[in-house]
Amino acid sequence: MQSDSYNLDPLEALPVQSLRAHPSPDGDFVADDLAEVDAVIRQRLNSDVALINQISTYIVGAGGKRIRPRLVLLFSRALGFTGSERFELAAIVEFIHTATLLHDDVVDESSMRRGRQTANAIFGNAASVLVGDFLYSRAFQMMVSVGSLRVLDVLADATNVIAEGEVLQLMNMHDPDLAVQDYLRVIRFKTAKLFEASARLGAVIGSASREVEEACADYGRSLGTAFQLIDDLLDYEGNSVELGKNVGDDLREGKPTLPLLMAIARGTAAERELVRKAIVDGDVARLPDILHIVRHTGALHATREAARSEAEEAQARLSVLPDSSARSALLDLCVRSVERSS
Ligand code: IPE
Ligand code: IPE
Ligand code: MG
Ligand code: MG
Repeated sequence: MQSDSYNLDPLEALPVQSLRAHPSPDGDFVADDLAEVDAVIRQRLNSDVALINQISTYIVGAGGKRIRPRLVLLFSRALGFTGSERFELAAIVEFIHTATLLHDDVVDESSMRRGRQTANAIFGNAASVLVGDFLYSRAFQMMVSVGSLRVLDVLADATNVIAEGEVLQLMNMHDPDLAVQDYLRVIRFKTAKLFEASARLGAVIGSASREVEEACADYGRSLGTAFQLIDDLLDYEGNSVELGKNVGDDLREGKPTLPLLMAIARGTAAERELVRKAIVDGDVARLPDILHIVRHTGALHATREAARSEAEEAQARLSVLPDSSARSALLDLCVRSVERSS
C-alpha cells in the first residue's frame, strides 16, 4: 500500500491533500440503532458475579464514541440489511474493544480513560485483566448465538491479530530505531483490524458480494489506521480534558510512535539525540522539549497528513456502495476521525 512508505525526507515537501467533506445528514440518524445496541450491551453484561457487573458497568457506562458498532450499523444499512442481528454484532465488537481497553490500560499503566480514572486505577490490575477476559469470552458466546461460522471466523481472526499487535508493540518499546513499516504493522494489527472486522461484518450480514465485502474491509482497515495515527498525534498535542485520557502516556512508556519517528528522521543531530534518549528512558520529564521538536520539525503535521492520506483511501473504497445517507455518514466519519480532538 502507498501508506507503507511515508515520506521521512525532511527536504521533500509533503503532498497537500484534502479530504472530501460530506456534511452529515441532519442529526445522528443512527442514534436509534445505537440505543438498541446499548440495550443489548446492558443486557449481555449481566453476570452473577458482583465485581464483574461493577467493573464492566463502570467502563461501559463511561461512554466512548462507539465507532466500531457504528461501522457495523452503517455498512449493514448501506447494503439494505435491517435485521436485528446487526445490534448483536455491534455489541460484540464493542465488547471486544472494551476488553482490549481494560487490558491495554493495565499494560500501559494508564490512569485515565473516558474522562474517569481507569478501572485498573480503581479496582487494580488483576480485576481489570480478569474482567477483560470475561468480556472477550462473553463476546464469543454472543457470536455463537448469532449462528454464523463466517462471523465467528472474522471475529476469531480479528481478536487473535489484536493480541499479536499488542505483543508486537511490547517488543518495540524503548526502541528508537523502529522502522516506520514496523510501527504501521503494530497499528494495523492492534487497532485497524477491529475496524476492518466491524466493516466486514456489516458487509457479511448485508449479503455483499466478495468484491464489495473486501472494499468495505479495506475501508475499515484504512480508517482504523488513520484513527490510531491521530490517537498517537493527540498523545502529544491533545488536551487531556477533551480526550478523557492523559496526554504524554506514550512518551512515559517509551513508545516509538510516528510523531517521534518522524522527529528523529527530520530533526538536527541534537534533536535526534534528545528524542532517541527520551524513547530509551521513557522520560516524560522531557515532554515540553519533545513537544517543541515534534512541532517545529513538522513531525506532527506529517503524522496528520499520513492519517489524512489513509482516510482518503478509505473514502475511495466506498465507491462500491450505492449513494445513501449511510454511505454519506461513512464518508463523513473519515473526515471526523482525522479532525477529531477527542
Ligand atoms: C481507543 O479507542 C483505543 C484506540 C484504538 C486508540 P477509542 O478512541 O475508539 O475509544 P472510546 O471507545 O471512544 O473510548
Ligand atoms: C490502542 O493503543 C490500544 C488498543 C487497540 C487496545 P493506545 O494504547 O494508544 O490506546 P489508548 O491511547 O490507551 O486509548
Ligand atoms: Mg493505551
Ligand atoms: Mg494512545
